[in-house]
Amino acid sequence: MTTPCIIRGLGHCVPETRLTNADLERMVDTNDEWITSRTGVKERRIAALGETTVSLSHQAALRALENAGMQAEELTHILVATFTPDAYIPSSACMLADCLGIIGRTAMDISAACSGFLFALEAARAIICLHPEAKVLVAATDVVSSRLDYTDRSICILFGDGGGAAIVTADTGLAPAGCAQVLDVLLATDGSAHGLLTVKGGGSGAPYKPGETVRRDFFVEMNGREVFKYAVRAMSSICKKMLEKNSLDKDQVDVFIPHQANLRIIDAVGTRLEMPTEKIFTNLQKYGNTSAASVIIALSEAREEGFIKDGNLVLLSTFGGGFTWGSALLRF
Ligand code: UT7
Repeated sequence: MTTPCIIRGLGHCVPETRLTNADLERMVDTNDEWITSRTGVKERRIAALGETTVSLSHQAALRALENAGMQAEELTHILVATFTPDAYIPSSACMLADCLGIIGRTAMDISAACSGFLFALEAARAIICLHPEAKVLVAATDVVSSRLDYTDRSICILFGDGGGAAIVTADTGLAPAGCAQVLDVLLATDGSAHGLLTVKGGGSGAPYKPGETVRRDFFVEMNGREVFKYAVRAMSSICKKMLEKNSLDKDQVDVFIPHQANLRIIDAVGTRLEMPTEKIFTNLQKYGNTSAASVIIALSEAREEGFIKDGNLVLLSTFGGGFTWGSALLRF
């Protein structure tokens, strides 16, 4: 038995600094035409010194709290989805709680790479089933630039930094206008494909010794073609499953927000779902792939810009290293 949940507030934050395709042309052997035609990305935001997963999450959380009309001290649980925590100990969630001035609540990080937001959203729903009075902050943030090798042209052009946040509570039927009902979440993983998208260096399986220089494995490593094919199959099939499970036709979906990794992946998924282009929200042109933050930034921005209107049925989908993937259905 699930407790119906709502998203009461949304917020996002991206760094000021822009890294354009022209900038990248000066750094690696690439060009705007290749990047645009292969990925759709025109520029991305890059964290300045001192801008971190915790600081971006903090700004996004403050905006989500304001959007929800809530105070930080009302929060009972803090979840941060990230693969680029500020540190391994303490968790980014503990540090975020401290930034928000909260002591004595539950705070924990969640690791699901680019699918992080949906995995954290599902964890929030589970917490609310156990504690219907819970008010859960779900932040999903990555400073991917901290794990990018800016001499590797096949990877560094793809990603950017950013954070997003959502406040999730039980649906008491008294929620103010503008909230989104979380109708359903579906998640999936395939660990057998773990080697196709990795950041291994510094983990217990690939530790560093004092004085050792960082190896390539410290940075994102990926078999782009294989990830591309799997991502298209996984996102389209989980979205179909979501619609079937909820007895919905694709035509009933008003807005589709897929993981913002590559415009060609989004086009291929859109085609498989027979989703008209005008229903698909994209912002990867401005931000690149912001990993865990990708879908929550897009959701927050789509709502802010009026792309999502009251009453709209919104379908989300993510895909990331692990592999991890998922889908969520929201009603605004
Ligand atoms: O969040 C989930 C994580 N990631 C993704 O979803 C990414 C999934 N994969 C992709 O988006 C695409 O595979 C990429 C954009 C990474 C690559 O596109 P592709 O069409 O699969 O290109 P490719 O890797 O097969 O490379 C084609 C050519 C190669 O040259 P040759 O061997 O054909 O001579 C590459 O060396 O393009 C070359 N290349 C570049 N050229 C200019 C690779 N990167 C670049 C570059 N600029 N930045």
